[in-house]
Order: sequence, then C-alpha cells, then structure tokens
Amino acid sequence: MSMDPSAPRRRDLLAQSLALAVLVACAGESKDAPLPTDDTGTTGGDDDSGETGVDDTEGETGGETGGETGTETGGETGGETGGETAEPEATCEGAGEPLPSTCAATSGDGEGPYYRTDYPERVNLNVLGEEGDEILVDGRLLDERCQPVAGATVDLWHATPKGIYDMSGDFHCSGRAITDGQGGFCFRTLRPPPYTDGMGGFLAAHLHWNVLIGGEKRLTTQTYFSDDPKLDATTKPADLVATVEPISTGLGRVRLEFVLRPR
Ligand SMILES: [Fe+2]
Repeated sequence: MSMDPSAPRRRDLLAQSLALAVLVACAGESKDAPLPTDDTGTTGGDDDSGETGVDDTEGETGGETGGETGTETGGETGGETGGETAEPEATCEGAGEPLPSTCAATSGDGEGPYYRTDYPERVNLNVLGEEGDEILVDGRLLDERCQPVAGATVDLWHATPKGIYDMSGDFHCSGRAITDGQGGFCFRTLRPPPYTDGMGGFLAAHLHWNVLIGGEKRLTTQTYFSDDPKLDATTKPADLVATVEPISTGLGRVRLEFVLRPR
C-alpha cells in the first residue's frame, strides 16, 4: 500500500483551520455578549437621599434581599412564562384631575438597588395578572418654572404584592411612560406592601421613580402611602407621602406631581 507523504501535512493544516475557526467564533460570542450593568451607583444629580436619610436602609439590606428574591423571582417567572406572557389590557380611564400645583421642587429619595434601565413603555404593570389591590397612578411633570414637561421618560418600579422585586425579563410591576403634552403620565399597577428590611423590621410600602430627560436623570425619588401602618411619616418628606383615593373595591387612585429642580 502506497502512502501519500503530504497527508500528515494536510491533516495539520485542517486541524489548524478548525482551531482558528473556533477561536474566531468564541471571539465573536464574547464581543456580542451583553455587559453586566450596575444601575445602583448612579442615582442622578437630584437624588437627595443623603439629605432625607431614607435610602440607607434599603441600600444596605437591599443587596442581600435582592440577591435572594431577584434570583428566585426571575427563575420562577422566566421559566413559567418563557417570555410569552400576554399583558392584560389596561387603560388610564378613571384618572383624575392633576393635583393643584405647589411648584415646589420634589424631594429626592433613594434609588435602591433594583432599578433597570430598559423598562418597556406601558400602562399596565401587573404583567402577570397577579391578585392584589390595584392603584391607578397618574401624575404630572413640571419643570422648575412650573411648566409641563412633554416627552420626558418616567420610570416606575416597585415590589410585587409578595414583597419582592421581579428581576426577570417580565419586568412585573415595572414600566415606563413618556409624558404627554401636559406633562402627564399614568400607570395602573398593584399596590406594593411594606417588605422586610432584612433586619427584623419593615420598609414602608413605596413606589420608586426615575425621571429622565434626554437620557439624563433629573429626579430620583419615591412615593409612600399615607394609610400605610408601617409608614413613619416623620421620617419622610411630606411631599413624598401620597393619599390613595378609593375608586372602587380593590382599586384606588394616587395623584402625583413632580417638579424638577433647576439644572
Ligand atoms: Fe424599594
């Protein structure tokens, strides 16, 4: 039997080509993989959490709680829904007249560790159709001259009725609105409960907000509920404590006004 003396050489070349192809493929994969984001370090220029002193508890304990609940929730919701959850219809019907303006700059409050930068624009935040009391949240955004701000981004995120933040791709109880010509925005969502602070106590129920204009954070704050038994109103700026007005059984309305500080 005759041997082809060039055969080993061809095999070597083939092996080198395969190795190169694998390297190129891996390099491309690495380049396209999403980078981890850290939203917790950027709270925006208007974040007054240092002044109000209400961000520290969540900031410290949120990391632990978030790691546990975020993973747990993400796994549950992601696995069950497979990203094909049909969002129930919801509208802002029933939204009331805006609050009489105070034209006073809204107090800032802590962002906490759960903010995501890619919330979908939508009205209904009860993405999973979870049971619980609902709130219609409608508000108005004004600038430092007390004029409506149109086209601003308003991000809302909060704990689910189970007291956890959904960090899965469902963004349950999270969403984005773009202000209309009157500075108006609206969401329909579930009322969040107080949740454990990880140290044997509770954080008062709250909504988280970020307001962005042209991609720049202009306001980071929270909203609390005046009828929340876990709220110690003496520790919160009065303008951040909202009243839930009953509309019907299991549905209330929260009216808000955000006024930006001068840049
Ligand atoms: Fe929070």
